[in-house]
Amino acid sequence: MQENYRFSVAPMLDCTDRHFRLLMRQITRHGLLYSEMVVARALHHIVREGGGAGQDERQRRLERLLGFDPEERPLALQLGGDDPVLLAEATRLAHTWGYDEVNLNIGCPSEKVQQGRFGACLMAEPQRVADCVAAMVAASSLPVTVKHRIGIDARDSYEELLAFVDCVATGGAARFAVHARKAWLEGLDPKQNRTIPPLRWDLVQRLKRERPGLTIELNGGLEALEPCIEQLQLFDGVMVGRAAYAHPLRWGAVDAAIFGDASRPPALASTVVCGLVPHAERWCAQGGRLWAIARHLVHVVEGVSGARHWRAELTRAAGAAAAGPEVLEKAARQLEERGL
Ligand SMILES: Cc1cc2nc3c(=O)[nH]c(=O)nc-3n(C[C@H](O)[C@H](O)[C@H](O)COP(=O)(O)O)c2cc1C
Repeated sequence: MQENYRFSVAPMLDCTDRHFRLLMRQITRHGLLYSEMVVARALHHIVREGGGAGQDERQRRLERLLGFDPEERPLALQLGGDDPVLLAEATRLAHTWGYDEVNLNIGCPSEKVQQGRFGACLMAEPQRVADCVAAMVAASSLPVTVKHRIGIDARDSYEELLAFVDCVATGGAARFAVHARKAWLEGLDPKQNRTIPPLRWDLVQRLKRERPGLTIELNGGLEALEPCIEQLQLFDGVMVGRAAYAHPLRWGAVDAAIFGDASRPPALASTVVCGLVPHAERWCAQGGRLWAIARHLVHVVEGVSGARHWRAELTRAAGAAAAGPEVLEKAARQLEERGL
């Protein structure tokens, strides 16, 4: 069996919540999934200070940030932060909560994150990142990985990228997921920073060639299985973000093609929706809104006649305050009847 990080679904705020991760689990049993970014300081605040909250309330807040279904594993918790002590504490929490890995976000260019002095701006402080990683490594037995860009602002030469990776490797990072774009911290917002700076797979390829002993994943602009398989000739893993969120069924052959497991046929839209019904039952029974799950499902049907109608109907029915799992059962039946 191949390592799970051969194929992973990138951490994405507002997208890779527990519901979407379970959706992706209907599609790949083996690929590594990531949480949304959780800020280490926020965890610290809940655990140590509690904001005056009682034990039950603290547990509820932690559950909101860290809770997941065991079915989602293998699962990495992505952390944001720049303080080794807080990151070590968050890593211990990740271990206790049952995550398989922790990942440090050195790629996010948002203004809010920069104000907290973490995310992509830490590419300018490789030693601090190495110290953070070392503290995280020492905190538990979980692998600690780093997700970063190829550069920021004017610090975008290959030599600077190499120096960053070499320095962070000394902290004991188990893997590097490299988003093959630089980030402009001033002038571009996060969305623009995912499209405007050009993709430079060549720089990441050179990095892997010159550091064959490091475990490196390519991220950025991978839109279909074929290029992923091609890049796996060189890289240890591929990480897919937007194309996994917007086109989940596109990845139905990942288990067979990347992990050598052809025991299940590629998922159909109906099996994905159906597979989420038990989760919807549990979620709604705990008072959760069905829409939190269904909002991700609108992407499982595309490119067929009637897709728009199915999506509109799901949106209408699942958006109702009292909507329950039966809405998903009906939506799955409609798809099944059409062989989708
Ligand atoms: C909506 C959205 C939210 C994102 N949130 C995060 C995040 O929380 N942490 C992170 O490291 N990257 C985040 N990213 C960046 C992705 O992980 C990924 O690096 C980027 O989208 C490039 O990969 P892609 O071209 O396959 O989408 C986000 C991307 C999107 C589209």
